[in-house]
Amino acid sequence: WNEILLIDKLRKEHKLTAEEYKILLECQDSNCLSYLQKQAQEEALSRFGNRVFIRGLIEVTNRCRNNCYYCGIRKGNPSVSRYGLTRETILACCREGYEAGFRTFVMQGGEDPAMTDEWTEQTVASIHRLFPDCAITLSLGEKTRETYERFFHAGANRYLLRHETYNKEHYRLLHPDRMSPEYRLQCLQWLKEIGYQTGTGIMVGTPGQTIGHLVEDLLFIERFQPEMIGIGPFIPHHDTPFAGKAAGSMEMTLKLLSIFRLMHPYALIPSTTALATLASDGRERGILAGANVVMPNLSPPEQRTKYTLYDNKAAFGAEAAEGLKKLSERLNAIGYRISTERGDYNGNRT
Ligand code: 5AD
Repeated sequence: WNEILLIDKLRKEHKLTAEEYKILLECQDSNCLSYLQKQAQEEALSRFGNRVFIRGLIEVTNRCRNNCYYCGIRKGNPSVSRYGLTRETILACCREGYEAGFRTFVMQGGEDPAMTDEWTEQTVASIHRLFPDCAITLSLGEKTRETYERFFHAGANRYLLRHETYNKEHYRLLHPDRMSPEYRLQCLQWLKEIGYQTGTGIMVGTPGQTIGHLVEDLLFIERFQPEMIGIGPFIPHHDTPFAGKAAGSMEMTLKLLSIFRLMHPYALIPSTTALATLASDGRERGILAGANVVMPNLSPPEQRTKYTLYDNKAAFGAEAAEGLKKLSERLNAIGYRISTERGDYNGNRT
C-alpha cells in the first residue's frame, strides 16, 4: 500500500520524486486508483466547492502553417475545408455567449499566416471594449514575445499553449522539423513573464509515449506552475500520419488529471472535449477526477465540423454553448453546478 502513502504525500507536499510518480503511473490497482480520484476530487471541492467554470470556445481559424502528425487540421491535409471567422462573426459569438452566461471567451485556432497580429490585436481590443467584464483567453500557438505582448496589452488575460510532451525526442516524433521543443518552452516562459495566466498540458497516449515521458511531463508541470492545465487523450484522425494508431486511455488520462489536481490545488483544469469524445460519460468522469472547468463550443455551428483535430470530435449537445442546459443537467446529476463567474486563477491570493 505504498501507493496510498504516495498519494497522501502528494496531497500534503504537492510533489513527488520521479521514481514516486512512476510508481503511481504504473499502479493498476483499482482501490488505489479510486483513492487517488477521491483525494483529487476532495481537493477540488475544498477549493472551488461544487462549481464548474465555463469557457466559451470560439474556433477562429482552421488554417495552420504547421504539420503536426497527430492533428487533423495540419497543413498537409488537403481534405479540410478551410475557414477563418470574420471579426463580426467572432463578436456575434461573444454576444451570444455573454447572454448565455459566459464570462470567458477562448479564441482558439491554427497558426494561420493570413491572421495578422494587427487583426488579432484589434479583435481582442474589440472584445475587451464590448465585454469589459469578461476574460479573454487566446490559444493561437507559437508567436514572438512582441506579439504576445501586443495581445496582452490589447486586453488578453490568459493563453493556452500545451507543451504536448516535454521529452525532446518524443516531441520530434510528433512534430516535423520546423517546430522545436525549445521554442515552445520559450513561448511558455514569455507568456508567464508578460503576465498571462498561462496554460500548458499534454496529450495522453500519443504514439511513442512512455511512462518515462509522462514522468518528465509531471516534473515540468510541477516546476512551471501553470495556472491552467489541459490534458486529454490522443485520438487518431483518419487523414493524418497517425491514422491507424490507438487512442490514449481514459484511465491514464484521469490518473494524470488527478495527480495534477493534487500537485496544483488551485489550477484550472478542464474536463476536455477529447475526454468527452472518448466516452459518453468522459466529461463527468473528468470532473469527478478533479477537473473544474468545461469549455463548450461557441463557434458558428456551420463551421464546427471543419475544426476536426481528431475523428468524431464532440461539438454539439452538451459540448456546445446552445446545449448549456443539457450540460447543466448532466453536471447536476453528479452533484456539480455551472458557475458563471469569470473563474480567474486564485492561488496567489490565499
Ligand atoms: N487528439 C487529441 N488531441 C489533439 N490535439 C490536437 N490533435 C489532437 C488529437 N489527434 C490537441 C493538442 C492541441 C489542442 C488544441 O488539441 O494537444 O494543443
